[in-house]
Formats: sequence, structure tokens, C-alpha cells
Amino acid sequence: MEKFKKVPKVIGLFSGCGGLDYGFQQKGFQIVYANDIDKNVKETYEYNLKHEIDINDIHKVEKEKIPQGDVILAGVPCQPFSSAGNRKSTKTKDGNLFLEVTEVIKSQKKKPKVVVFENVRGFLSSKDNDGVLMTDRFIIEMGNLGYKTTYKLLNASDFGVPSNRYRVFIVCVDLIERKEFIFPEPPLMTPKVTVGDVLSRKTPKGEEVEVWKLPPSSQKIVPFITEGGSWKDVPYKELSDRHKRIRDNIKKYKSPNFYRRFARTEVMGTVTATSSPENSGILHPLEDRRYSVREIARFQSYPDKFKFIGVGSLQMKYKMIGNSVPPKLAEVIADSIKKQLF
Ligand SMILES: C[S@@+](CC[C@H](N)C(=O)[O-])C[C@H]1O[C@@H](n2cnc3c(N)ncnc32)[C@H](O)[C@@H]1O
Repeated sequence: MEKFKKVPKVIGLFSGCGGLDYGFQQKGFQIVYANDIDKNVKETYEYNLKHEIDINDIHKVEKEKIPQGDVILAGVPCQPFSSAGNRKSTKTKDGNLFLEVTEVIKSQKKKPKVVVFENVRGFLSSKDNDGVLMTDRFIIEMGNLGYKTTYKLLNASDFGVPSNRYRVFIVCVDLIERKEFIFPEPPLMTPKVTVGDVLSRKTPKGEEVEVWKLPPSSQKIVPFITEGGSWKDVPYKELSDRHKRIRDNIKKYKSPNFYRRFARTEVMGTVTATSSPENSGILHPLEDRRYSVREIARFQSYPDKFKFIGVGSLQMKYKMIGNSVPPKLAEVIADSIKKQLF
């Protein structure tokens, strides 16, 4: 690994269990502060990143106490912009969280050189309360603070992550650098990693296989779904009343592809925070169950030494993994930032 002249210091905001922060750490960046509101991520973050995480609502954090950083990482919550969410964007409190990031920037003695935001694809078409596209709003807000902003939609699977995950990365560079961040291009000729490739690996020795059980409604219909299939395989009479209504009027409901069960030859879909069998491709191709915690962690490119610990319920583990930036993609961004700016 190429060495830095001076190791850049990272402030992690909305760090979750640490996917984005971990990728930067792997590339030699040093975490000096991390924050998240969710106490469930604390033990996992601290065990794996070997750095304390401040569990607090970002609104309540005394910004001037945050140590000086060179890079701010901010995977602001995506629900207000997600097509699965309500898309109320800045009308919601969460949609305004990015303003908290600008407060952190303003409270720093020296302006951090780079600020990285990450969000869902729906962010690209979201507008603020005044009808301004959020991308333009970011360019304006960050421009007012003296940053040049570029953004790009990336698919994690183009960079070796074993699942399709489209996310927008917004990289803002201090104008003083007179540089615009150039996004990395996917490596040429890299074969995509399939579900079968991921499942061919055994659970790490000594690790408990943790599987969040399917709800009874799913247990009833999942056995009908073939590898590579979906709820379309389920006989009409086996469906719930809600599903019958949808199937009766499938066009009206925009032909949903519920209960997708990816085949071993396919690339996995996006691992989601809800891991709902109806909407997330979470079904194992051969066994009538959700993927295990380790399997979804692998789909998200977490290395096996990364442990998910200290939470009361299995559901929380699925949530933190589904919320993550895949560390492998984070490493690619970190590498590019390192080469261009440090
Ligand atoms: C998309 S996830 C971030 C994922 C993380 N960057 C990663 O790569 O693993 C958004 C995070 O924002 C946190 N969050 C939501 N509201 C918050 C608030 N008011 N203050 C601090 N963190 C908040 C959530 O708990 C969640 O972990």
C-alpha cells in the first residue's frame, strides 16, 4: 500500500456499523471521531474499527468538541430519498440531516479537505421544499462553504462487491485544492461475483450460523418459489388476500416482483435494512430460509473477520448490514481520494 506523507484524519458521521469508515481505515486513513444515533451499532463498530463511536443524535452533538479532520464521511440516512420510502426529502427531519454536516464543517478550525456523502439512487431525482433538485442544493450549499462538488451513481457490483447496489456518491473538495474529484471507473473485464460464488464458501470455523426466521406468512409460500423465481411461482389459492388483490390487478400495482429468489448463477440484489422476504431478495436459493448474517455480510463485501456483535436481536444485525456502504466500494473511493488529494 502506498504511504501517505501525513495520515489523513477522518470524521465519520452516520457511521452505522462502520462500512464506509472501515473501507477508509483499510486504506490507511485514521478515524478520529465517529457518531451514530443507534446504540445497537456501538459494540460492532468499536470491536472492528478499534475506535470509540459517540452514540448521540447529531443534532445534540457539540460540534466544536469534534476533533479536527481532513475528511468527513457522511452516509446520511436515505429513507427520505428512497423509492421504498416516502420521498418527502427535506420536508422530513431526516432529509435535513445533511445541514448538520455543514454545521460540523463550520465548527472545524481548519476546513476539512474532502467531504463524502453517500445516498440512494432516488436522491438524484429528489427535490427540496423549494423544488430545487437535491443535487443542485448540495452543489449550492457546499459551494457556499467553499467546496467543489461532483457526484456519480455507482453500482457496487462493478467494483467486485457480490451484489448489485446502486448508490450516489457526492464528493466535495476544498476549492483551495483547485481540483475536481474524478470518480474511479470500474475495472475492465472483472467478472461479476454470483450468488453461487458467495454460497460456495463455508461459514468461518467456530462461528454460529445466525438466521433470522421467516414470518409464518412467508414460511407458507416460500417452498413454492423455485430457484431464480418469485411469488409468481406461488399458486393463487396459497396467496394471502392482499397478494390475491395485487395479482388480480397486477398492472395497477406496477407488476411487483415480490419474493425474489435469486439463482446461484445470478448476482445478488441489494441487501436492504429491512431484509423483508417480500421486497429484498433475501431468500436462499435452495433452502427455505433467509440468508444468514454472515451470508449477507459477504454479499456486502465485509471480510469474515468483521464481527457483528452486542445487539439484542438478530433483526438489528440485518439492519446494520443492510444500511452499510460495502467496505470494498468504500475502499475504492478511499483509494481514489488518496491518489488525487493526499
Ligand atoms: C445509511 S446508514 C449509514 C451507514 C454507514 N455509513 C455504513 O457505511 O455502515 C445511516 C445511519 O444514520 C444514523 N442516523 C439517523 N439519524 C441520525 C441522527 N439524528 N444522528 C446520528 N445518526 C443518525 C442511523 O442510525 C444509521 O446508522
